[in-house]
Amino acid sequence: MNERHSIVRSVGAYLPARILTNDELAKMVDTSDEWIVQRTGIRQRHIAAEGENTSDLAAAAGRKALENAGVGIEDIDLIIVATTTPDMTFPATATLVQQKLGMHHGAAFDLQAVCSGFVFAVATADSYLKNNLARRVLVIGAETFSRILDWTDRTTCVLFGDGAGAVVMELGKEGPPERGVLASSLRSDGRHWNKLYTDGGPSSTRSMGLVRMEGKEVFKHAVGMITDVVHNVLDAAGYGIDDLDWFVPHQANKRIIDGAGVKLGIPPEKVVVTVDRHANTSAASVPLALSTAVADGRIKRGDLVMIEAMGGGFTWGASLIRW
Ligand code: UT7
Repeated sequence: MNERHSIVRSVGAYLPARILTNDELAKMVDTSDEWIVQRTGIRQRHIAAEGENTSDLAAAAGRKALENAGVGIEDIDLIIVATTTPDMTFPATATLVQQKLGMHHGAAFDLQAVCSGFVFAVATADSYLKNNLARRVLVIGAETFSRILDWTDRTTCVLFGDGAGAVVMELGKEGPPERGVLASSLRSDGRHWNKLYTDGGPSSTRSMGLVRMEGKEVFKHAVGMITDVVHNVLDAAGYGIDDLDWFVPHQANKRIIDGAGVKLGIPPEKVVVTVDRHANTSAASVPLALSTAVADGRIKRGDLVMIEAMGGGFTWGASLIRW
């Protein structure tokens, strides 16, 4: 097979300095560290400082990914920012990141698929590269979810955090796919929109709205949707579950991650978990988890890595990457 594959050259991440613990949250709403840990696995989350916006987090993660790739911003010709929490309704946060990174050429746009945004952005970058619409892409997942939470609603405010992660993607050499994005599967089903949404927006209420969720309903659908796309991707690439070295799932809830792992038959030691420290950072969760596992030496060159995510819409998707 001589098809060229887009490779992931590097990863980078940024987390705001401020850590909010479960015990601190228990002073704000009627909850407890015990409940949060038992039901979600979350122990703490990072919260962006006042004046620190999604574009700041995104630019910091992007800089790190560029540094780790050993390339400069002049070598990038497309920036995609997956986010649900843009600095402004417009312009796209990606253009603000472009300005912050000093890039005056190429193109930049946002992608909105909520928690699945990074997986959708990887698949989008892969298509741009394969179709010669870009040479090297900075793909970022960045969120300040703390800004759209109702801090009096204990059913949602304990679940989310802020952060950003980024990868540099480029087209690999011609020849057998030694590295790269081997297959992706993207799905959505708008019949489920009102199970996880914000109760406002520019067009409907002229405001941004806050997160509302039927947690149990989301939970009920999550494992089945995740396992479906993972199987689709493995089938498309001609691999089986046992071939996977690492499973890097969206970090929403430890119980969902465990449930998907069990249903797929992936042993826990192959599953990257960061939800305990980061909580659910939406589009940032997968690149943050990738960055963690690359930095601590678990994910190595040549490893077969499955990323997946599921979120509002519903949207869900997975990509298989030879690292
Ligand atoms: O990226 C996708 C985004 N979202 C998700 O993936 C979330 C998916 N859903 C979940 O993770 C879980 O459904 C939750 C963690 C949100 C909730 O866990 P659950 O086991 O489904 O709990 P529940 O909603 O059935 O609530 C059980 C009880 C309720 O009390 P009663 O009615 O049994 O008296 C809730 O009011 O827990 C109560 N509760 C809380 N108690 C303490 C809900 N939130 C809290 C809280 N602290 N923070």
